[in-house]
Amino acid sequence: MMPMEGKPVSASRLVLAQIMTHLDANPAGNVHGGNIMKLADTASAVVAIRHSGRNCVTAAVDRFEFHAPVFVGNLVTLYASLNYVGRTSMEVGVRVEAEELRTGRKTHTNTSYFLMVALDENGRPVEVPPLILETEEDRRRNGKARQRVQARKRR
Ligand SMILES: CC(C)(COP(=O)(O)OP(=O)(O)OC[C@H]1O[C@@H](n2cnc3c(N)ncnc32)[C@H](O)[C@@H]1OP(=O)(O)O)[C@@H](O)C(=O)NCCC(=O)NCCS
Repeated sequence: MMPMEGKPVSASRLVLAQIMTHLDANPAGNVHGGNIMKLADTASAVVAIRHSGRNCVTAAVDRFEFHAPVFVGNLVTLYASLNYVGRTSMEVGVRVEAEELRTGRKTHTNTSYFLMVALDENGRPVEVPPLILETEEDRRRNGKARQRVQARKRR
């Protein structure tokens, strides 16, 4: 079989932005963390589907920590891109920033890594295209992702 043609990181990269409204709030009035997690999962799925051209599922998240609260009225922006591909799995890095629009103050609320797996028509893991690393940033992230893959295997 012919080897699959690679795709660059830039071909699947996504920036997703959304204003947080009262519909995103928890009973205390701040943004519910689960809503941010859902957005990050959605962004990861978009990146993984774009890269693989397949339906993709979330196998694991490594890992979710909130460094700062997000408030109703904030613009939340998620930067999602592919760090690493295995045979059927892909690691998508998602950086989340919250912006207080009136002051322009931006906070890095968290970064997490989503392990996505591409599935074939029968719901079985299927091979994904190799990842082409174009920039220094791509190579740096790929190096870090490889260390995480090794650490996960040890776990
Ligand atoms: C993800 C899933 C398809 C993996 O199936 P599986 O039978 O374990 O398949 P495999 O052992 O062949 O693993 C497939 C790939 O996933 C990776 N993988 C599986 N579980 C993983 C985990 N917990 N963390 C990281 N990678 C994982 C494997 O390393 C392998 O990667 P590779 O092909 O790049 O080497 C299966 O566990 C599943 O369907 N889970 C439910 C997914 C889902 O519904 N998510 C939404 C939940 S709400």
